[in-house]
Amino acid sequence: MFVTDLALTDFRSYENVVLSLEPGVTAFVGQNGQGKTNLVESIAYLSTFSSHRVAGDAALVRAGAARAVVQAKVQRDERPTLLELEIVAGRANRARLNRSPVRPRELLGQLRTVLFAPEDLALVKGDPDGRRRFCDDLLTLLGPRMAGVRTDYERVVKQRNALLKTAAAARRAGSAGDIRTLDVWDAKAAATGAQLLAARVRLLRDLRPHVQHSYEQVSSGQSLAELTYRASVNNDADEPLPEDELTRPDVVEAALLEAMGRLRSREIERGVSLVGPHRDDVELVLGGLPAKGYASHGESWSYALALRLASYQLLTTEGSWDGDGEPVLILDDVFAELDSRRRDRLAELVSPAQQVLITAAVAEDVPAALTGARLDVAEGTVSRAD
Ligand SMILES: Nc1ncnc2c1ncn2[C@@H]1O[C@H](COP(=O)(O)OP(=O)(O)O)[C@@H](O)[C@H]1O
Ligand SMILES: [Mg+2]
Repeated sequence: MFVTDLALTDFRSYENVVLSLEPGVTAFVGQNGQGKTNLVESIAYLSTFSSHRVAGDAALVRAGAARAVVQAKVQRDERPTLLELEIVAGRANRARLNRSPVRPRELLGQLRTVLFAPEDLALVKGDPDGRRRFCDDLLTLLGPRMAGVRTDYERVVKQRNALLKTAAAARRAGSAGDIRTLDVWDAKAAATGAQLLAARVRLLRDLRPHVQHSYEQVSSGQSLAELTYRASVNNDADEPLPEDELTRPDVVEAALLEAMGRLRSREIERGVSLVGPHRDDVELVLGGLPAKGYASHGESWSYALALRLASYQLLTTEGSWDGDGEPVLILDDVFAELDSRRRDRLAELVSPAQQVLITAAVAEDVPAALTGARLDVAEGTVSRAD
């Protein structure tokens, strides 16, 4: 699939911009702060409802404006689809699909993107939440239904934490608190948490060969890149569940309930939910050692690139999609971060993709293997360079 048209209204620095795009490579070139990332961020946001730069959506709305609108026309299997999303800070988004109002969630899956950015290094070097988000964003692209499971689970954990805090206060005041309500929330957290957790483990299993292969391709190194799901439900468990069992929601649900029972006193003491997918991690291993803390800067970059390339391959090859599932590739300022070998490798690997959108401060940062259209971005205006 590829994006043929993009229109932004009050998105980030853009009051109004309209552009047409072509399949193949397009490079957005311009000095820092001119609005290159803002353009590609809007496309990625339309596909995942999340930004690689900010957690909330307030910063996406142009300062002083009430709402931002992103419109894109996507070509897939010869069929054009028009996606429109209205972003109102702190409120629910509004969406239209081919001009008919729909629930925003129905846009998910219409446009698939994989974005590479300097922030990806944190996937390897940073905290577990980045790796969890990586899994969950990819799950959402593979099957939009997961978006619902994800928000349900977040809501349940929030409510459960509030209840644990109330129970803690009750305990301090010398009363028993309302334990029965807590049981209800344990059950909800275990049921939705198990779905999310099992889906992540299945995802990792599917992703693993692609990651290994991609790592070999970018690094031309001998080290084997492996990933292991670290489930908090297995911490201090008498019989930790092996990976196969973790792919079964029913088994995971029972294990989560058991763990919550075991940890109840500690959870009330701390006032937070201590077990579940929100406390899990994905361990990235390189040549038998954890990448985090052991891998060199270059190796960490190779690993981060391998995760994104593997996502691209999985989305492209994954069967359940009706038709052309190949995502649009977005490379936001990544080439400047890489040494020349990794830069050339990456260029070679992404060049066959149906659509590649690149941002770079100077044209020289775009490897020669990626010839295509060039758009100059300066002070919020976008113009053809040729
Ligand atoms: N919500 C917003 N309202 C107005 N301007 C914004 C908003 N968010 C970002 N900007 C401006 O956008 C510019 C950065 O654009 P960006 O696309 O990141 O630049 P680059 O070309 O370096 O990728 C900055 O000048 C920033 O102040
Ligand atoms: Mg930028």
